[in-house]
Amino acid sequence: MRKLIAGNWKMNGSIAANDALVRAVIAGMAGADCSVAVCVPAPYLAQVQMLRHGSALELGAQDVSQHEQGAYTGEVSASMLKEFGARFAIVGHSERRQYHCESDAVVADKAKIALAHGITPIVCVGETLAEREAGRTEEVVKRQLAAVIHANGHCISEIAVAYEPVWAIGTGRTATPEQAQQVHSVLRAQLKAATGHSERIHILYGGSMNAANAASLLAQPDIDGGLIGGASLKAADFLQIIAAACVARA
Ligand code: 13P
Repeated sequence: MRKLIAGNWKMNGSIAANDALVRAVIAGMAGADCSVAVCVPAPYLAQVQMLRHGSALELGAQDVSQHEQGAYTGEVSASMLKEFGARFAIVGHSERRQYHCESDAVVADKAKIALAHGITPIVCVGETLAEREAGRTEEVVKRQLAAVIHANGHCISEIAVAYEPVWAIGTGRTATPEQAQQVHSVLRAQLKAATGHSERIHILYGGSMNAANAASLLAQPDIDGGLIGGASLKAADFLQIIAAACVARA
């Protein structure tokens, strides 16, 4: 399967910076044998939608409302994202869980509404440092994923999952390839049991993935790509990760 490399710009960017970054990424990824997406702040969806036109670069959002429409000030609906060409929406990022108190149930509803609008939710799961040190990693990620499986039934084969250990996000501390592979294999087994077939769902790794460590992470059998924060803001770094994903294509 083709690997998927998705950039999560988080709350970064400007019209000028986005223009330069997207043009450089599109030029550098020409012919790449992997899927590439950028998940941009909502106000920039229209700009990046125009910039990517005619290229293989896919567009994603960083969140989606769990509601269809109505009196939800500040929220952005799945149908709005769809109108602007979003193919992906990150849901349940640990920064949303932490700073916006998103529960497993809310994340599951967000995945559901994205799927209903033909948007692939990239469902983020991951343990904190305290949870890892307490030996609770598998229990935590399985609980987070189970909520999404429970709410989405057979549609689950249309999602993507990102394992993002909270202690590795933005810290420069990456999970070792073995640590990541271990959790990915647990998630793979859980997805297989839920879908009842062996069709592969992309399971991405996220957390300080960069040009130097991408190849060893992407070489693991159950790591199907990456969700890249800081390194997705620099075209050269992002392109090196894309190149590593093409080489590592499983
Ligand atoms: P960093 O790559 O900056 O650690 O961020 C990872 C992440 O949170 C992607 O969603």
